[in-house]
This record gives sequence, structure tokens and C-alpha cells, in this order.
Amino acid sequence: MSEFISIAKVTDLKPGEGRVITVGDREVALFNVGGKFYAISNTCAHQGGPLGEGTLDGNIVSCPWHGWRFDVTTGITVTMPTMNVEKFECVIEGDDVKIKLT
Ligand code: FES
Repeated sequence: MSEFISIAKVTDLKPGEGRVITVGDREVALFNVGGKFYAISNTCAHQGGPLGEGTLDGNIVSCPWHGWRFDVTTGITVTMPTMNVEKFECVIEGDDVKIKLT
């Protein structure tokens, strides 16, 4: 059974920022959208670009490699809705940002 694990502090990312976080052998893209945190797979559904290094505009991140756009709150690929990325449950506990890997 999966449990929530701490991957960052709430002060690590300002609103509008994203970051790649390695959790074991996985890479997660964590975003702060207006003070709320969202986590999706870091691996772009196109050719594997690092979504956590993309540019965040509202709740949409653009992949730094070829510009595919993803809704970080759902994992839906705006550019190609049939090719979505994994979204992880994300909660705040105290100062910790925690996610549940699946
Ligand atoms: S690898 Fe992300 S848009 Fe191509």
C-alpha cells in the first residue's frame, strides 16, 4: 500500500515555480500554482522531456524540449489529450509537501 512521502518544504517553491524531484528511482515534477501544490510525472508524454524544468503559466506547464503543454492539476496533455502523464496525490502537512506514489 502506498503512503504519503515528504518530497519538499512548502517554502522550496514560490507560486509559479516548478522543480524536478527525484524520489527513489522516479522523477516527479512538483509545481506551486498560486500556493497550491501539484505533482505529475516529470517525463513528458512526447519524448521524455523534463516537465519540472518547463515554464509554468497558471496551471499549464510547457515542456522545455518541444513545447507540449500539460495541465499540472490533472496530468492532461493539452496538446495531445490522448497522451496524458501520471498525476500524484499531493497534500501539505505542516511545512511538508507530501505525495503518494502509485
Ligand atoms: S519531449 Fe516534451 S514536447 Fe517533446
